[in-house]
Amino acid sequence: MSWHATVLTLFPPMFPGPLGLSLAGHALSAGLWRLEVQDIRDAATDRHRTVDDTPFGGGAGMVMRPDVLDAAIGCDDGRPLLYLTPRGQPLTQDRVRALASGPGVRLICGRYEGVDQRVLDVRGVEEVSVGDYVLSGGELPALVLLDACVRLLPGVMGAEASGEDESFSAGLLEYPHYTRPAEWRGHVVPEVLLSGHHGAIAAWRRAQAEQITRARRPDLWRRHVNLIDLPGMDSAPAGP
Ligand code: ADE
Repeated sequence: MSWHATVLTLFPPMFPGPLGLSLAGHALSAGLWRLEVQDIRDAATDRHRTVDDTPFGGGAGMVMRPDVLDAAIGCDDGRPLLYLTPRGQPLTQDRVRALASGPGVRLICGRYEGVDQRVLDVRGVEEVSVGDYVLSGGELPALVLLDACVRLLPGVMGAEASGEDESFSAGLLEYPHYTRPAEWRGHVVPEVLLSGHHGAIAAWRRAQAEQITRARRPDLWRRHVNLIDLPGMDSAPAGP
């Protein structure tokens, strides 16, 4: 049985969207993963197929009804149930790896102001954010999460992106890349990359990755330094 994603949404035509192309699209056609798109509105019971209502306590926008969403969710099938929301825990590569190594995911995409909190509590839904900015719905975040998972599924990526390079640079931002021509608009490629000296190239890339991480993402840098310091325990943890 291949990795199984189910998306609950009010906008089914947004899927597979970009996941129907390129790496994820080929993997989808090849049966390496399966995508099921479920229209939340199909679970509405009234003549107007109502899925939302005004918020108790007042305020702007509409809230998705708990009864409709609960009916759309249906039975638990062992796959993690996630709700995409800027209030959620930030999505990390560790979480992506864990999700990709399981049976699949069920993703709830909200619209309007959100969904009734009770259904999230009762169904034990994990709330996940793709970043500290607000999008108009959970569909794009769901595509982001699925893309991140699918590329890790066995057989999806070629040898070029095997775990080797990721463990080499674990927790660091990537070093810069260069290709032909060796000189372009008067700018030359760093000489070490033309040397054919694999050890020197690896050391240069490592140093670049560290320098870029330190400058751009002090949060990642601190974590990286603390992690590599841990086994020895003979140096002080990195400062703020
Ligand atoms: N829905 C709207 N904005 C979002 C975000 N940043 N992450 C996840 N879901 C969202």
